[in-house]
Amino acid sequence: MKTVLNDRAMTKRNKLYEGKAKIIYEGPEPGTLIQYFKDDATAFNAQKKEIIAGKGVLNNRISAHIMTKLEGIGIPTHFIRSMNMREQLVRKVEVIPLEVVVRNIAAGSLCKRLGIKEGTHLSKPLVEFYYKNDALGDPLISEDHIMTFGWADPYEMEEIVAMAWRVNDYLNGMFAGVGLKLVDFKLEFGRLWGDYDELYILLADEISPDNCRLWDARTNEKFDKDRFRHDLGDLIDGYQEIAKRLGLIPEGGLMANGEINEEVVAQLEDIENDLAKERKLRAVKKSGKPRKI
Ligand SMILES: Nc1ncnc2c1ncn2[C@@H]1O[C@H](COP(=O)(O)OP(=O)(O)O)[C@@H](O)[C@H]1O
Ligand SMILES: [Mg+2]
Repeated sequence: MKTVLNDRAMTKRNKLYEGKAKIIYEGPEPGTLIQYFKDDATAFNAQKKEIIAGKGVLNNRISAHIMTKLEGIGIPTHFIRSMNMREQLVRKVEVIPLEVVVRNIAAGSLCKRLGIKEGTHLSKPLVEFYYKNDALGDPLISEDHIMTFGWADPYEMEEIVAMAWRVNDYLNGMFAGVGLKLVDFKLEFGRLWGDYDELYILLADEISPDNCRLWDARTNEKFDKDRFRHDLGDLIDGYQEIAKRLGLIPEGGLMANGEINEEVVAQLEDIENDLAKERKLRAVKKSGKPRKI
């Protein structure tokens, strides 16, 4: 319990940014940030909004798990460690203003834009880029736009696309193993400069059911944020199902009658604390691929 108290006792936090799903605080050490996962759900560029109890806890847990797994296969991520049920310590990066979307099966805006039938299996994973700008509604862009406006350089794009493919390969297998189809997902990347001014590209932000489409492998039932977007059923039930299948929460779930089950949360916090004690700040250099600039 000690780690949690220490983390929470850090009350004089400097809030740097409040987004739609998370709050970013200054971290306890230089070069670190704290990502606090809120219960706010938004869709259609925040035109639809709701507070959904427990969403932040589930996303924090799912994202921490996925980032840890990706780090394990050598993909450099910003994730350092979970701090408590809603917060994680991450490396501060310079976020590249792109939303990198990987699609395996047609859904969402791809269907709308091109008239493709939802559920169509794509012949190969499709990587798309969107300009990360809420005021403009995150418009679809090409690599040429990225070059023209200098949002990333060709070397960075090569690395970003290669990482996106690797993440897709890994996550497809991981989710297939628990009876889920990974339809599509969104990634964000950031730049980190090392001690010798070498540049690392890190996977940043979060990977959770807020930005992945996950369908049941047999029934195609949707367990992701589309439940909220299109009123397809209780959002938390979907997120809990994903977390349960990944073995991240007990069978009974995290929620009881619309409220977070404090007993389960306490149990999970103890597990997180034990893990955190074992884990030290990991050196990015071990897994990142540096590039002289
Ligand atoms: N490691 C990081 N360093 C700096 N900024 C980050 C990092 N990871 C994520 N971010 C940024 O923090 C914000 C997270 O909050 P979120 O609620 O998702 O915001 P938004 O509404 O802008 O999507 C995002 O803008 C994201 O790009
Ligand atoms: Mg976001």
